[in-house]
Amino acid sequence: MKAIRGATTVDFDGCEQIRERVKELLSDIKKANNLSDEDIICIMFSNTSDIHSFYPAKAAREAGFASAPLFSSSEPEIEGALKLCIRVMLLTDKEDKPVHVYLHGAKNLRKDITERLNIAIDGPAGSGKSTVSRLIAKKLDILCLDTGAMYRACALKCVNEGISCTDVKSVDGIINDINIEVKYENGVQHTYLDGMDVSQTIREPKISMLASAVSSIGSVRNKMVELQRKIAAATPCVLDGRDIGTNVLPNAKFKFYLSARPEIRAKRRQAENEEKGIFQPYDEILADIKKRDEQDKNREIAPLKRAEDAVYVDSSDMNIEEVTAFIINKIQERI
Ligand code: DC
Repeated sequence: MKAIRGATTVDFDGCEQIRERVKELLSDIKKANNLSDEDIICIMFSNTSDIHSFYPAKAAREAGFASAPLFSSSEPEIEGALKLCIRVMLLTDKEDKPVHVYLHGAKNLRKDITERLNIAIDGPAGSGKSTVSRLIAKKLDILCLDTGAMYRACALKCVNEGISCTDVKSVDGIINDINIEVKYENGVQHTYLDGMDVSQTIREPKISMLASAVSSIGSVRNKMVELQRKIAAATPCVLDGRDIGTNVLPNAKFKFYLSARPEIRAKRRQAENEEKGIFQPYDEILADIKKRDEQDKNREIAPLKRAEDAVYVDSSDMNIEEVTAFIINKIQERI
């Protein structure tokens, strides 16, 4: 018999959220451990004493765990303990190595997991890595660093200064004056250039191509990589980019390389852009994506390539939720 552990938190003591989070926790445990209902011997919950609205065991029953015996208990109040937390222990007679699941801040219960938890997600433009990275970070309750935004801000700086992004000498000349900061507001990354929030402006298609060009310049990469390593060392986070697994954090425990066919990536980028009110013909987007692939893969310094120890994910025929669940599973299998 094996014991699988898990925990999640709720943001407030409310019936609906307890239901939703218990359901999510148990579904993730089932998925990560490849369990069917018959494999579950029993499920035991304990929740912190600040949860009164609903019994987690009742939530499990409502979530469709119809046959397993359930048990719920309330923990005594302990000073300094994580608040609004639901723990679970699920017994199974499956002999596989248990995959424990910690969601929504409950990872704080496992310092061994969170300290230095850096997840590298690399891949070409339009592979879905930004969206997937954000969803993974949200689920694990850690930060998400979009490193492409930093190169985009560098490109914008060149535009503002009237400098060509391929003019190495001129870019080298202003590199020390580029002041890029990344701040988080309600968990969302905002990129600042010289004190101005440029998060919207840097999404313009014109900036995409220029960012690709400027990112091949050594002085730019050195400066951005230093900043990225500083952020990654200070806080557990998901980093998405092109060279995270190969260059920025070669020792990251979790590395993924996400890709998809160029035509699919172009379609996704078109839909994403249209949501932001940016309209560009499909053929143009496809041509841009192919050109950027070419530039990013063939540059001399830290080109886009899969790290040998990165898990390759072809997302062409997967939706965002499937990719996210696949990556979360891979992470949980190893923690
Ligand atoms: O991910 P993105 O499309 O926002 O990135 C814009 C450009 O920045 C991309 O074409 C290449 C470059 N980049 C990079 O060289 N290294 C990274 N870690 C992230 C982005």
